[in-house]
Amino acid sequence: MSVLSTRELSLRYGTRQVFQELNLTLRDGAVTALIGANGSGKSTLLRSLSRLLSPNAGAVLLDGADLHALPTRTVAQKLAILPQGPTAPEGLTVEELVWFGRHPHQGMFGGRTAEDRRIVAWALDQTGMTVFASRPLESLSGGQRQRAWIAMSLAQGTQTLLLDEPTTYLDLSHQLEVLHLVRRLNEQEGKTIVMVLHDLNQAVRYSDEIVAVLDGRVYAQGDPAEVMNRALLRDVFGLEAHLLTDPDTGRPHVIPYGIARKAGTR
Ligand SMILES: Nc1ncnc2c1ncn2[C@@H]1O[C@H](COP(=O)(O)OP(=O)(O)OP(=O)(O)O)[C@@H](O)[C@H]1O
Ligand SMILES: [Mg+2]
Repeated sequence: MSVLSTRELSLRYGTRQVFQELNLTLRDGAVTALIGANGSGKSTLLRSLSRLLSPNAGAVLLDGADLHALPTRTVAQKLAILPQGPTAPEGLTVEELVWFGRHPHQGMFGGRTAEDRRIVAWALDQTGMTVFASRPLESLSGGQRQRAWIAMSLAQGTQTLLLDEPTTYLDLSHQLEVLHLVRRLNEQEGKTIVMVLHDLNQAVRYSDEIVAVLDGRVYAQGDPAEVMNRALLRDVFGLEAHLLTDPDTGRPHVIPYGIARKAGTR
């Protein structure tokens, strides 16, 4: 079990309040898509769920315990985050980056076990990065680099993965590969995954639950087929859209055709 929730969580940068008294419980063992306009607070929320950002008030709870009071190593064994636009020191190779994912599991003297090696090789393989293992990150294309970071978060071997825009920079087939990997990790290994996606049709298709944020609050949370409706598209994204039924899944398929108002919140 690994239940992530927030209790009366407030997050702000200086005087800019992003969330106020947010109460949210993420579904354990599910794939959740976090959606919302640019600047609505998705990354801020994900960063606080992974402890990269401290709350100004309230708490993030992991299985009922205050995340910010838990030992760093314990948190790193349970939660991995792929931040938006991560950076690495120059010269770092893909394989070296992926090994960082194993740090929380290594002993005091940093010995690498056969299990560590197996997981690093697996993470490289799952993301199609084995052939790039010895390449420095800065020598890769944007999409290859993004996949290297995904490999690092996979190598951490956590029950919960928080992925901030994992498909950004990827061509369509690599986007689907990542989304299929997410489903596979969820279905075969029971992992809980929270991912920020901008492609609403992918959010509907690949998640079990959608959380839509607007103006520092959760606008809607629930079954993708119910949450994705014309009112949400208008209110959250300022879009007029047709909703068709995806012949494959029976879920809604969004075809935007107009702008109802200027999108973005603040
Ligand atoms: N380091 C920071 N300092 C000050 N304000 C910030 C900082 N990071 C984000 N913000 C502000 O907080 C709000 C939420 O930003 P956040 O990055 O969480 O949005 P987002 O939903 O992830 O957007 P995007 O879809 O563009 O990634 C925005 O108004 C943004 O300008
Ligand atoms: Mg963001």
